[in-house]
Amino acid sequence: MSNHKVLFRFEEDPDKQVVVVVDDKDTILDAALDNNLHLNHNCGAVCACSTCHVYIEKGMNDLPEISDKEEDFIDRAENPRINSRLACQCIVSSDIEVTIPDQSCIIGH
Ligand code: FES
Repeated sequence: MSNHKVLFRFEEDPDKQVVVVVDDKDTILDAALDNNLHLNHNCGAVCACSTCHVYIEKGMNDLPEISDKEEDFIDRAENPRINSRLACQCIVSSDIEVTIPDQSCIIGH
């Protein structure tokens, strides 16, 4: 059991912040879904879509290295930035801060 924390911010609601504690080997997507935070994940977390796209505000260097495949899908996301990652590909191994993009812009579930 790890005690790493993820602080989530939300483009849709800039005043809101949620801090969650993650289990060992959990991804950012797991951390969001386990805590009822809406984050699309159309491909089911297998790095085959871009709907779980998030921005890493703190802790980027502690995340697993980005794969070519992940980079390709980030390029197809809405408003990719230098700190973009796919939440399902990022196992949390330190305290990090993440912004979830406006989910209403994404066709997903
Ligand atoms: S859920 Fe599809 S790439 Fe993350």
